[in-house]
Amino acid sequence: MNGVDFRNALGRFATGVCLISVADARSGALALTANSFSSVSLEPPLVLWSIQNGSECFREYTECTSFGISVLCADQQELSNHYAGKANHAVREDDFEMNSAGVPLLKRAAASFSCTLWALHEAGDHHIIVGQVVEHRVSNEAPLVFQGGAYRQLALAAD
Ligand SMILES: Cc1cc2nc3c(=O)[nH]c(=O)nc-3n(C[C@H](O)[C@H](O)[C@H](O)COP(=O)(O)O)c2cc1C
Repeated sequence: MNGVDFRNALGRFATGVCLISVADARSGALALTANSFSSVSLEPPLVLWSIQNGSECFREYTECTSFGISVLCADQQELSNHYAGKANHAVREDDFEMNSAGVPLLKRAAASFSCTLWALHEAGDHHIIVGQVVEHRVSNEAPLVFQGGAYRQLALAAD
């Protein structure tokens, strides 16, 4: 299979952009940009995302007991670029706050989910991380969109 064609085909699928965050005893609070987030189950409430096996944060995310997912707002492209950078995963204190479960979540987000680790599955060059949502928050802010390798804005029709 041609890898470039495969990536281009996958990129046709528009997604939101999230920061996945974790508080690790050794490394401290970390965040990583991800667009592999997806809903899985309503009862119990489950979501997933996938992490590259080669990520410098692989241990922290696969050995955690809880983690956070913050869905970025349309004007938070800078946060997405920052936490996608190599060695840029330590959370900036201005961006995040800890919830009562000790999970770092973005102070401002289109939505956020506090999760406990439900399952971990090997899947090729990634691992799929399934989380059980124990708490969520939602705002009315427009989300950031990623499609075709670029950030996009939703053209929101009036309700
Ligand atoms: C829009 C976007 C979506 C991304 N989605 C994922 C993802 O779902 N899983 C993942 O492991 N990395 C994803 N990345 C890459 C990571 O954010 C980060 O760049 C990569 O993990 C850097 O390597 P490191 O983890 O070794 O620092 C994404 C990057 C961008 C810009």
